[in-house]
Amino acid sequence: MELKFCKSNTIEQGTDLLFYPVLNDQIKINLLLKNLTTDQSVLSRLDKEKFTGKKAQIFSFQISETTVIFYGTGNEQKMNQEDWRQASGFLGNYILNNKIKSLALEPSAWFKSATEIEKLAQSISEGLNLALYNFDKYQNKKEKENNLEVIFVCLDAKKRNLFKKFWERGLFFAQGTMLARDLINEPAGVMTPTFLAKQAEEIANKNHKEIKLKILEKEAVEKLGMQAFLGVDRGSEEPLKFIHLKYLPKQKAKDKVAIVGKGITFDSGGLNIKVGEGMTDMKMDMGGAATVLGLFSVLAELKPKIEVHGIIAACENMPSGSALKPGDVVTNLQGKTIEIGNTDAEGRVTLADSLAYAQKQKVSTVVDLATLTGACIVALGSEYAALYANQDLLAKDLLKAAETSGEKMWLMPLPEEYRELNKSSIADIRNIPNSRGGGSITAALFLSEFIEAGTAWAHLDIAGPAYAEKALNTYTPIGGVGYGVRTLLEWLDN
Ligand code: BES
Ligand code: MN
Ligand code: ZN
Repeated sequence: MELKFCKSNTIEQGTDLLFYPVLNDQIKINLLLKNLTTDQSVLSRLDKEKFTGKKAQIFSFQISETTVIFYGTGNEQKMNQEDWRQASGFLGNYILNNKIKSLALEPSAWFKSATEIEKLAQSISEGLNLALYNFDKYQNKKEKENNLEVIFVCLDAKKRNLFKKFWERGLFFAQGTMLARDLINEPAGVMTPTFLAKQAEEIANKNHKEIKLKILEKEAVEKLGMQAFLGVDRGSEEPLKFIHLKYLPKQKAKDKVAIVGKGITFDSGGLNIKVGEGMTDMKMDMGGAATVLGLFSVLAELKPKIEVHGIIAACENMPSGSALKPGDVVTNLQGKTIEIGNTDAEGRVTLADSLAYAQKQKVSTVVDLATLTGACIVALGSEYAALYANQDLLAKDLLKAAETSGEKMWLMPLPEEYRELNKSSIADIRNIPNSRGGGSITAALFLSEFIEAGTAWAHLDIAGPAYAEKALNTYTPIGGVGYGVRTLLEWLDN
């Protein structure tokens, strides 16, 4: 898809679709329409349909080959980045459903000031590109088709360079997110730890100057002493992979951070096997890992000035004669012992090792993403990620980045009083709490036991937003969401 520019109020010859955001201003709308067409039936239809430019209201008509859509933006002062994304997502869906090849976009009604161009361009690019995403590789009969070849954006010559720059930034944000979606949507029979490692290899090969990759096989993981990770892997026939990506900026790094992703490529529950419904979507239990890879796939393009480590302990959680048993005790990289109360609480056990490994990289900050608990969905529903942090500033920065990206996130407590709920009578800690409530909180407290003094740490429980059981909004279709890629890119770049 190619980005081109055109002058305002000129319909490019042969354009399939002209998309015209309009303000809630009857006089301006009437004037605009009269400029575009003299067709009386269209003019009277505007009145009949009571189109006033209210937010997300739509009016469409035909000018020879071109379909024109007026898209109501309501009161301009109230439009924000997420509104622009949603409107562009609507446009994306229209393009898919109507097999549109060429589009002209007239965004003048969306401008408030010159400084808005950056945000506007990035939002349009994100919303449109993310809405055009469609995972249909396993469908013989494709329901939707992306035929879009060219977009003309009608803009003053002066504004074009800035628009293009931030359009591209939005494109990177969307591309990283869509890679994460692809990885999540891929069935677990394909998306094995080996496949995940191959994806990391591809990313490292494409950006070999900026990104280094280390993949640890089982023997190396044994040698290092990641017995917790090994324990979870024990029931599976698929070889595990421990993935360590490292991005180095050209100039001296201002800071060093690690992003850790839960990488369970399928969670059957293990011997504490899940029943029916509970297992259906468990190919998505590598959603955190997908976010890490999506992020790394565009880091070299975005060029943040900090060193970034991406860490994934990838394996399956399966039942078998060799599987971890309830009551077993495993020892992590730091020498801490974990009693396995339930083999289905496997994510925190693998994270005990990947968080320990991350801290060995001498980073100042660790952020982990994990589809960790069903309890998180009970607490916050399917759209919000639960954020936990041991440092207020880190929490504040992540919430701000999430606000900008339109990804929903809510700060949760790490109450000292609940810490004892994870107590074990035979080991240092137990992987399930002896309480019914607050399951996402007790899981976060479990993880915090593996964070050393001096490390700033944040944990995102993304059990809800990693996977959409139905389309979430105009630019988030059913399936893998790629949650966190855009927020973390935003965070790393500031
Ligand atoms: N991967 C699941 C959590 C999950 C559930 C993610 C639903 C997305 C949707 C996790 O490994 C798990 O099974 N957690 C258990 C923990 C319990 C045994 C303490 C849960 O939430 O039931
Ligand atoms: Mn589980
Ligand atoms: Zn799991």
